[in-house]
Amino acid sequence: MHYTFKKILKEVLNYKKKFIIANIIAIIAVIVSTPAPLLMPLLVDEVLLKKPGFLTENIDKILGVQEAYGYILIVLILTLFLRSLFFVLTVLHDYIFSVISKNITYKIRKDMLSQISKISLNEYESFGSGKISSLFLIDVATVETFLGMSISKLIVSILTIIGVAIVLLLINWKLALFILIVNPFVVILSKKFARKVSFYKKNENKAYESFTEALGETLDLFWQIRASNQENNFIKKLFVESENIKKTGIAFSYKSDAALRFSFLLFLSGFEIFRAGAIFTVAYGHLSIGMMLATFSYLWVMMGPVQEILNIQYSYHNAKKALERINKIFEMQKEPLFEHIKNPFKDTNTNMITLKNLSFSYNNKTEVLKNINMKIFKGKKVAIVGASGSGKTTLAQIIVGFYHAKQGDLFVDDINVKNIGLDVLREHIYLVLQNPLLFNETIKFNLTMGKEISEDEIFKALKTAQLEEIIKNLKNGINTEVGKNGIKLSGGQRQRISIARMILAKPNIVIFDESTSALDIQTEENLFEALKDTLKEKTTIIIAHRLSTIKQADFVYMLENGKIVEEGTFENLIEKEGIFLKHIKTKGELNK
Ligand SMILES: Nc1ncnc2c1ncn2[C@@H]1O[C@H](COP(=O)(O)OP(=O)(O)OP(=O)(O)O)[C@@H](O)[C@H]1O
Ligand SMILES: [Mg+2]
Repeated sequence: MHYTFKKILKEVLNYKKKFIIANIIAIIAVIVSTPAPLLMPLLVDEVLLKKPGFLTENIDKILGVQEAYGYILIVLILTLFLRSLFFVLTVLHDYIFSVISKNITYKIRKDMLSQISKISLNEYESFGSGKISSLFLIDVATVETFLGMSISKLIVSILTIIGVAIVLLLINWKLALFILIVNPFVVILSKKFARKVSFYKKNENKAYESFTEALGETLDLFWQIRASNQENNFIKKLFVESENIKKTGIAFSYKSDAALRFSFLLFLSGFEIFRAGAIFTVAYGHLSIGMMLATFSYLWVMMGPVQEILNIQYSYHNAKKALERINKIFEMQKEPLFEHIKNPFKDTNTNMITLKNLSFSYNNKTEVLKNINMKIFKGKKVAIVGASGSGKTTLAQIIVGFYHAKQGDLFVDDINVKNIGLDVLREHIYLVLQNPLLFNETIKFNLTMGKEISEDEIFKALKTAQLEEIIKNLKNGINTEVGKNGIKLSGGQRQRISIARMILAKPNIVIFDESTSALDIQTEENLFEALKDTLKEKTTIIIAHRLSTIKQADFVYMLENGKIVEEGTFENLIEKEGIFLKHIKTKGELNK
């Protein structure tokens, strides 16, 4: 999938009927509007200068001979009617085109969203959520503006210019040629200066962006900044940013004002030159005063569409760049879509996991996991230990299907994950994180994730997770809002919410990634004691630094720089205590 203007044009043609109707309306609107500026000026010649012509003669034929006020009134009504009709037609026309363009951008947004739901996590991380949001907010809007503008205004503008050109040529071809040839130059020149404004605006926007970013970080990390007594430094930085906004703001307002005024001056100068040309033609050529006034009106009518076409061209360049950025989303690597050939999780409450020669890299350069071989038997409790950065979390994330290792294989009950599907893996293997992320919703929502689960079951899970008392003491119980990222709960409470969530999800396999690190040893012990029933005969992987947490394991793997350097039973490894203890707490704890 790739969005190009050609593809977008094809999308437009999906609305063929609407498109054709809108264009017919556009043509009628132009036909209706083109003669309007001609009528009143004609009266100057025919009524004021008493040279009866086309208009009065036709009125005489249809409505009979009139007094001067009669002609004026009739022509006024006719002009107003034509202008109103033009108004109605253009509203209708704009409506149809905005339906088409909004539908197209809606489809672009939808395609982007569905692509995002499929991209690999690794790719998502390297892209960054900020950049993705700006694609949705800024770039799609840019394309939308272009579509809205171009498909609705381009045709009307071109038709209007053609219509006016024909009328001007009929009035006086020499004057018309002069206007038609010089006019584009006037408009382009005045546009050029107007565009300077966007340059200054860009600088001002940049200053704002940089200020917002610095301010956001300062506010987000306010605690951290206070704790390290760095407020003054950070505020100073913000002063500098604010000053930048001031400077760029001043530059923008006076320079842009000047540029806009100058551009308007050029525009008006062109206008005056044309008027002079028209008066000149009256004085030395064949042009009546009425026709001269009509020419004045048509100058206004024509300048607008010429500007419009230039705007469309400008907006086309912006939209092209925006489309290029949007296409980056479609170029992002997708998560491999494995077929659901076999489901080892069905009809059993737990499974075996095997890793064969598995290697993994986030950036295709440095390997974070190297040739990992593991066999985690059904129902066993296995611990993974290792220094910080040794690859434990990465390994856990591969087992739950967040990432897919390009080298080596992952098996569940001897079925390769390629025949199971990463989504199925995620559904049945539960990873309890160290810093679980919570939604800014109630505790209940955070536990059930919107699924229907009885309060009874929820409270049972909360009890096991050692949270029952705490929740009961809250005024709103499980309907308490937890705040953004769960800010209103303590770190240990958040970890336990996440464990309760796991209990309710009833997975076949559970991985704890330092998920009880914030709990005191006593609470942790109570928790695992209470979990015994839930985890009974369930394959469990425990990643921990604390010795007390892994004591319950049947088997221990030790990672170092992405490699398994030791494996064996807990007692086995205790014997080699030298190496083992490097990676877990203190010897004092071991002796307890
Ligand atoms: N999302 C990521 N993108 C790129 N590199 C990453 C990413 N996550 C981890 N790494 C790198 O991979 C290596 C292993 O990280 P990992 O989080 O697996 O270690 P860990 O053993 O869980 O450490 P800790 O005990 O501190 O949690 C580190 O060098 C880290 O910098
Ligand atoms: Mg980790």
